[in-house]
Amino acid sequence: MVKLIGSNRVRTAVFISGTGSNLKNLIKFSFLNKSPINISLIVSSNKRAKGLNFANRYKIKKKIYNFNSMKKSESLILKQLKINKISLICLAGFMKILSPNFIKKFRGIILNIHPSLLPKYKGLNTHERVIQNKEKYSGCTVHYVNSRLDSGKIILQAKVKILKEDTSSSLKKKILKQEHLLYPKAINKVFF
Ligand code: GAR
Repeated sequence: MVKLIGSNRVRTAVFISGTGSNLKNLIKFSFLNKSPINISLIVSSNKRAKGLNFANRYKIKKKIYNFNSMKKSESLILKQLKINKISLICLAGFMKILSPNFIKKFRGIILNIHPSLLPKYKGLNTHERVIQNKEKYSGCTVHYVNSRLDSGKIILQAKVKILKEDTSSSLKKKILKQEHLLYPKAINKVFF
């Protein structure tokens, strides 16, 4: 179990694949006086991920892996996690599925944010499926990562009401706003 010792912050790696709005939000959260985390590494599965700009802007070490060979990429990532003494991984729009072997070998905590009210709508294209099924509510979930996709223990959820005029893209925006509130809250819940 990872614990906060004195004023030491938990050395954290954020994994991204795209825009990185959750990454930016977590970086800002890590700058707060009372934040339990320090973001020491950014891992991207995509060299063109916009989110990598935040690594440059905030001078955070970044590493890019193409996942052409999952085994090779994961083993290189595990090495980096060790070198950088990482004990928390926050998946934030990371679109690769980590292998059970990776999850077992990493000795810290792995968290993920998913844009639905899990256990509903695991996997991809959540907003499209939610709209298609005429759901009244959707939302987002922060959960522990285990070896089954989007199935680890839930830490916190936020609910969003779906209006008649909502489209998958308006819903995505609304939920993303909630994600930015929820991820820091969930991290505080894990460590405080
Ligand atoms: C977020 O909505 C996140 O919940 C979702 O991707 C988006 C990334 O946005 N994650 C997944 O769908 C994971 N299965 P961001 O790059 O702006 O943080």
